[in-house]
Amino acid sequence: EGEAPMQFFLDTGIVDEIRQAAKWGFIDGVTTNPSLIAKSGRKQEDVIREICEIIDGPISAEVIATDYDGMIAEGRELAKIHDNVVIKLPLTEDGIAATKWFSDNKIKTNVTLCFSPNQALLAAKNGATYISPFIGRLDDIGHDGMALIQEIKEIYLNYGYTTEVLGASIRHATHVRDAALVGCDVATMPINVMKSLFKHPLTDKGLAAFLADHQKANA
Ligand code: E4P
Repeated sequence: EGEAPMQFFLDTGIVDEIRQAAKWGFIDGVTTNPSLIAKSGRKQEDVIREICEIIDGPISAEVIATDYDGMIAEGRELAKIHDNVVIKLPLTEDGIAATKWFSDNKIKTNVTLCFSPNQALLAAKNGATYISPFIGRLDDIGHDGMALIQEIKEIYLNYGYTTEVLGASIRHATHVRDAALVGCDVATMPINVMKSLFKHPLTDKGLAAFLADHQKANA
């Protein structure tokens, strides 16, 4: 525990947002999903290729197929785009079986739509690179998204599973703080949440006072 830095991924299919955020210097990777790609109005392959040119880190691209053979065929094509592409697979029987195939073939995976500790255990058993528990969507239905992150961390630690816990469906700055407090390995978030991390009213107020004092002294 505590041996690796927390990673920040941007959760978007909009390349302009990635360019903007890349300037901050702390973006470690990008996650997409079919809804985010649809919002971009572009072809997944084009979006993923462009993202890989901007960010040198793990870039998750999700399969659309729901059957094992289809997932493998689609994932193999996505993996050809760039070495950094991570194949995102849904937490279904076929998705978990396909996770095993990709991990046996040394292709990175991100198992998505995880809502329970047992689901996360299955992903780890089949060698998933990342497990994506959806924090916000659990909170939305009155469950405790952060408790799930904590339970998965504990289970993985019990057995030394190396699957990284990728906190997803992060909706606000408090989710990011709490994810960091429970040792979540990766947090993926939309750009508005990332921007909110910079913000504190006392920072703005303090800076304005410093600049005003400087102006006065140098008038
Ligand atoms: C990861 O890429 C997930 O698909 C994403 O974080 C889901 O977030 P949402 O619940 O806000 O749609």
